[in-house]
Amino acid sequence: MKAYPGRQANVPWASHDGARSWTSAYVRGIAREFHTSMPGYRPTPLIELPELADELGVGAVLVKDESNRLGLPAFKILGASWAVNRALSQRSGFDTPAKSLTELRERSAPVTLVTATDGNHGCAVASMAALLGLAARVYVPAGTCQETVEAISNEGAEVVQTGLIYDEVVWAAASSTAGHRNDLLIQDTAWEGYEQIPRWIVEGYGTLFDEIDEQIGEKGIHLVAVPTGVGSLLQAALRHYRRPGSQPQPAVLAVEPVSAACVTASLAARRRVSADTSEATIMVGLNCGSVSTIAWPAIRDGLDAAITVSDEEAGAAMRRLNELGVAAGACGGSSLAGVRAGLGDSGHRTALGISRDSALVLISTDGAV
Ligand SMILES: Cc1ncc(COP(=O)(O)O)c(C=O)c1O
Repeated sequence: MKAYPGRQANVPWASHDGARSWTSAYVRGIAREFHTSMPGYRPTPLIELPELADELGVGAVLVKDESNRLGLPAFKILGASWAVNRALSQRSGFDTPAKSLTELRERSAPVTLVTATDGNHGCAVASMAALLGLAARVYVPAGTCQETVEAISNEGAEVVQTGLIYDEVVWAAASSTAGHRNDLLIQDTAWEGYEQIPRWIVEGYGTLFDEIDEQIGEKGIHLVAVPTGVGSLLQAALRHYRRPGSQPQPAVLAVEPVSAACVTASLAARRRVSADTSEATIMVGLNCGSVSTIAWPAIRDGLDAAITVSDEEAGAAMRRLNELGVAAGACGGSSLAGVRAGLGDSGHRTALGISRDSALVLISTDGAV
C-alpha cells in the first residue's frame, strides 16, 4: 500500500482554489444510531472560547473536544466500532449492520481483530474486541511509548512491537492476516485492494460532524481545522461539508506535523506523494507517511488548504487549550497551531476566506496524556 513513488521535500502550506464548489457523493450514514447504543455514549462537547477568538481576530472559536469519546482519549472509536459492526455483520450473513452493540454481540463470529496503529486506533480496535468478547492483535511502530502499549494490552489485546515506521507496520499487520480466515483486518487507511473497511471507518467518523451540526444549530461556521494523518478524518469532514446542499459550507484546513506532511505535499503536487516519517513527533497520531487512497480524490478536489506545524507550535497550542479548560493532547493542539499559523499570514487568511466575523471550529482529536 505504501509503495508509491515521488517523495517530496516539505512544503509548509498548500491550497486549492475552488474546493468549496466541489460536491461529495454522500449517502447519509446510519452509524449514529449504533454509536448511541454504546456504553457511555454522549455527544462530545463543542466549547466556545472567546479568548481564542480575540487572539485570532475572528468572531468565534469553537473546539470539538474529543478527549473523552466513549471512555477513550480520542475520536477513533467512532470509526473502529462502526467498521467492526459492518464487517462482522456482513461476515455473519446479515444484509444490514446491527442497530445496537447488544445485537452485534449476538452476531459476532469467532474472529481476531487485527490492526496497525500509532496508538489511538489500536486502543479503539482493542476496546471494541473487548466489548464483543473477541481476540485482537495490534501492531505498533518503533518508539511506541509504554503507556500506549499498556493501554492496548489492558484491553486484552496482543501487542506486536515491530520496530518499523508506521507505513511499514500497516503492511506488517495486513500481511499477517494472509491465509488466516479468522483474522479480520480493521485498518483506518485504504490502499488498492483494501478499501471497504476504511470506507466504513470514515462513515463512522461522520457522527462527530453530525454532532457539530446539532451543536451549532443555525449559526454559520466558516472554517474547520482537522488534524491529519492518513486523511480519513479529513475525508469524513469533506464528505460532510461538501455534501449536496450542505449548510454550512466552511473552508476545510488540514493540519499536519512538519515531519509527516503527506497531505500538504500531495495537495501541492496534485498527486499522492509520500512523506518520510522516520523523525519522531509529539503529534504521534499524525505521524503517517501516505494518504489513504479513498481519501485522496476528496482531498484533491474538496480541500481548501493544508498547513504544517512544528512540535513546538503544537505543544504551545495544546498548553493554551489546556489553560482554557480543554484537555487537548498534541494532535488536538495541532488544529489551533495550524489556525494560528494560517491566519497569521494575510495571504493564507484571504485564501481561506476568513474575516473578523468568521466562526472557526477546531477539531481537538485527542486528550492530554
Ligand atoms: C488523535 C488523532 N488525531 C488525528 C488523527 C488523524 O486521523 P487520520 O489518520 O484519519 O488523518 C489520528 C489518527 O490516528 C489521531 O490518533
